[in-house]
Amino acid sequence: MNNLSVDHLLGIKYLKKSDVELIFKTADNFKKIINQPIKKVPSLRDITIANLFFEDSTRTKLSFELAEKRLSADVINFSSVSSSLQKGETLLDTVNNILAMKVDMVVMRHPNPGASVFLSRNINAKIINAGDGTHEHPTQALLDAYSIREKHGSVKGRKIVIVGDILHSRVALSNIYCLKKLGAEVKVCGPSSLMPKHLETLGVTHFSKLKEALEWCDVANILRIQLERQEVNYLPTLREYAMTFGVNKALLDSLKKKIIIMHPGPINRGVELSSDVADSNHSIILDQVENGVAIRMAILYLLAGKIKTT
Ligand code: CP
Repeated sequence: MNNLSVDHLLGIKYLKKSDVELIFKTADNFKKIINQPIKKVPSLRDITIANLFFEDSTRTKLSFELAEKRLSADVINFSSVSSSLQKGETLLDTVNNILAMKVDMVVMRHPNPGASVFLSRNINAKIINAGDGTHEHPTQALLDAYSIREKHGSVKGRKIVIVGDILHSRVALSNIYCLKKLGAEVKVCGPSSLMPKHLETLGVTHFSKLKEALEWCDVANILRIQLERQEVNYLPTLREYAMTFGVNKALLDSLKKKIIIMHPGPINRGVELSSDVADSNHSIILDQVENGVAIRMAILYLLAGKIKTT
């Protein structure tokens, strides 16, 4: 298969396994290119991409921008903080005004779940979801699964535990969809107050003890506690969370095997992850960031191939 089955990247749940495999194969080629002295290719020379960020971002925003520039696209960046949204303009009006400037693709991060699906139904451009509230973060899940594949040769059959705030995490939901599509065994771990009620419908089970989870897994993906999304107090204190669910070097050293530690960033050092783990040879956090550029290049390239030029 040389084509994605979808016209937009709205969430992992809309992708087939063959789409994910195509994205990985394409990313393999781009990863080779971005490790060469000349890192740029002309593939998207006639394509204009708008990066619309209605919520804070460091990694995703910069990674998309770099991926677009490596592919020679024209890029415009929009941040809601300094925009006319502050004057009452609607999302649709804002985006339509941007599209009137002849934009072909939109990368959007938005605090509302479903915002990118809404855009795809109302806007004539390819839409890429760069994170929509507590819903999905598909490019993060793809780069996470790609990084596991790189370390282990394959995702199929790997035991992966996602630790932390599963309830509020778009990274967790997209990772669960993606890893299960690729045949991994996925479980979650964290306080029961931060577990979604419908967990079993996602086909995953819950560890309430961190040490048991780490003893079971090959890879642990550690999530940030999302204080900005907590309308009530789900935790007594961050200190207590760190003592019960924080991953530290002493805990890793007590395991009978070496496991891989991942984190989507930004890290709350000393809360979900201690510095001596984040910076240790267990951690592939910076490999994830590097792979993010290749994965995003692959997605942009494959979706741009679906833009009709007539
Ligand atoms: N992982 C991730 O989405 O990081 P940013 O919020 O910095 O983009």
